[in-house]
Amino acid sequence: MKLAVIGTGYVGLVTGTCFAETGNQVTCVDIDERKVEKLNNRIIPIYEPGIDILFNRNVDEGRLRFTTNLADGIKDAEVIFLALPTPPGEDGSADLKYILKVADDLGPLLENYVVVVDKSTVPVGTAERVREHISRNTDREFDVVSNPEFLREGAAVDDFMKPDRVVIGTRSERAKAIMNKLYAPLVRQGNPVIFMDERSAEMTKYAANAFLATKITFMNEIANLCELVGANVDDIRRGIGTDSRIGKRFLFAGIGYGGSCFPKDVQALAKTAKDFQYDFKVLKSVMAVNNYQKTKMIPLIKEHFGGDLRGKCFAVWGLAFKPYTDDIREAPALENIRILLEEGAKVTVYDPEAMDNVRNIFGNSIHYAHTQYAALDDADALLIMTEWPLFRTPDFDKMNLLLKNKLIFDGRNVYELDQMRETGYTYYSVGRET
Ligand code: UGA
Repeated sequence: MKLAVIGTGYVGLVTGTCFAETGNQVTCVDIDERKVEKLNNRIIPIYEPGIDILFNRNVDEGRLRFTTNLADGIKDAEVIFLALPTPPGEDGSADLKYILKVADDLGPLLENYVVVVDKSTVPVGTAERVREHISRNTDREFDVVSNPEFLREGAAVDDFMKPDRVVIGTRSERAKAIMNKLYAPLVRQGNPVIFMDERSAEMTKYAANAFLATKITFMNEIANLCELVGANVDDIRRGIGTDSRIGKRFLFAGIGYGGSCFPKDVQALAKTAKDFQYDFKVLKSVMAVNNYQKTKMIPLIKEHFGGDLRGKCFAVWGLAFKPYTDDIREAPALENIRILLEEGAKVTVYDPEAMDNVRNIFGNSIHYAHTQYAALDDADALLIMTEWPLFRTPDFDKMNLLLKNKLIFDGRNVYELDQMRETGYTYYSVGRET
């Protein structure tokens, strides 16, 4: 099939590349000329394991191309994906200006029947608004479908190519048939394509992210309580996760969820509830707990150092909001670094991928180490903010020579308590005894 993908952000680029990999002819359109030029020179603007191989193969074989020209990009396309940003507005609701502008521009360019697909996470009712905006400028036939994306950063290619399920919101039989054909190669192992109406598909995406954020937050509160009653949250996780009704995944306690999706989507769903005069109490608590959780290590750090962090040096391992990404949006590390600096401490950071992004925020106010060990040199303590595998089995002998104190504040529970006792570290983690 011939496809167009409007917007070459995270979702757009993965969607375009993966659909090219299943044999479609894909043109990606973006208004950012520099980005398109880079993509045409094979510079991929995101860090995502495995995407480079697919990207290069499909560009080589002529199935994937990039343009800034919307008319050229959508020419003869049977399906047009909208993968545009929906940043949070001041009141927390998703701002649709980019999507509706493209919808306005598409109308006059339509020739044959086309399926326009909302791939971005958009509030309930957006498909209808997109339909209305396109119709303002055309009398050609088209359908608007909601097809939310559930991929995770760091596992995006795998999630896209082997989805647990595909959700398609449309009542048009013609659009259903086209979407079914498009996704057939990705759901061959029996995972379902679930059809529903547009509003339900839009709501499904928010419900999925809000549920996962709630699941994590629930475990974070259990962890906080474990600390008080003297229980171990790792054991609780194993104890409840084996119940198939609960499931093993997304039960890891820590310093809160971050990223570009959970915080934004929980906020947007709470705003939708408010707009409909519904008091969504669970979501409000999720947001409040996550805010608390992000910096819950700070009081422990302060207490350990007698309330005064002036002149103290902290090594921070991990800056990205989670491993396998360079994305630092809403990353707990940032807020912690900010507070440490405000308290007069010095900070040296290391992350395998996110250093450049953090440099753009903190500039010269912190130090940047070339290796995880270099960050420890003369530090009073180590703080772990992201659970990169690299940090799981470090050379403790080497660490002992560099750190001033055998002291770790671990926001992601990367070490076993026994292991820490053996190495003689004072070890603070989340939901476990010190
Ligand atoms: C999330 C969803 O998992 C995807 O299904 C969805 O498509 C995506 O948002 C989106 O809406 O675009 P992502 O933000 O890439 O994906 O990352 P996750 O792997 O879900 O992690 C989110 C945050 O939760 C991270 O900060 C992570 O550290 C935290 N987390 C995750 C925990 O604290 N505990 C866990 O057990 C799992």
